[in-house]
Amino acid sequence: MHGQHDGPTREQRAGAISAQAEEFSRRLTAAGQSRVAAAAEAAVRAIHALIAELRPSGEEFRLGIDFLTDVGHYADSRRQEWVLLADVLGVSSLIEDQNNPRPEAATPNTLAGPFYRPDVPDMALGADLSRDHKGDPLAVEGRVLAVDGSPVAGALVEVWQANAEGLYENQEPDRQPEFNLRGRFRTDPQGRFHFLTVKPRGYALPSDGPVGQLMTALGLGLERPAHIHFRVSSDGFETLTTHIFDGSDPAIDRDAIFGVKPELIAAFRALPASAGKRRYALNLNLVLCPERQGQIKRSGRR
Ligand SMILES: [Fe+2]
Repeated sequence: MHGQHDGPTREQRAGAISAQAEEFSRRLTAAGQSRVAAAAEAAVRAIHALIAELRPSGEEFRLGIDFLTDVGHYADSRRQEWVLLADVLGVSSLIEDQNNPRPEAATPNTLAGPFYRPDVPDMALGADLSRDHKGDPLAVEGRVLAVDGSPVAGALVEVWQANAEGLYENQEPDRQPEFNLRGRFRTDPQGRFHFLTVKPRGYALPSDGPVGQLMTALGLGLERPAHIHFRVSSDGFETLTTHIFDGSDPAIDRDAIFGVKPELIAAFRALPASAGKRRYALNLNLVLCPERQGQIKRSGRR
């Protein structure tokens, strides 16, 4: 690509590196090579380039340090403000994409998010995930397929979602029954699965901490469009962790953590109302790709 918007050449970039960053690199080289040293060198170069571009005052530098300090103070065993920061800056999503590339025919992988539970009991196909029957009924039918279109029988399909108010069962254990809106199924010989649930609502990431304040100051939202999480595993395939999003959600184009991809947007179709209740249906295919040779099976961080 050539044009007036091309970035600086490698020589120009090299010329822009600060004397301090150069000296840092020289000291690292003298100390020996390692993955950590490579990361430190790249980080120092990037930070120095940022400072050269922005030329912050001493006061602005102090405000930046204060922000990072606040993020650290907000993080504890239940609230990971650093992960939230990585999420809203698109960093978590980029790392997920880089580490889990999928062939075009396969369903894209996404972050699992913080609400997954591995301990959900097995359920029969057709079960109702709603244990409190609050919300508009949604019938979900899907198939698990290989990239060549053949069905994957006996695949484990795990499902979890927020309720009609945008809250997960483990966010409000005193108000929702345990395992509400969570499922765990095996596909039939044709790779099919189906279950009943309620239509989920989207939700917003926490706004009370420094990351929420930053996003508000930037005029950016913290919304996540409505979605259902799926994790599908089967021998010989890479485990797929993904979300299926409601394409009619007003926030579909501004997911705060960059999880929406065109292949993951589905129609939650309205059906004729029954007994005064709105009802919906969702059909989807989840396409697995073969396990890469030599790959170690991971349960996924989040
Ligand atoms: Fe979610």
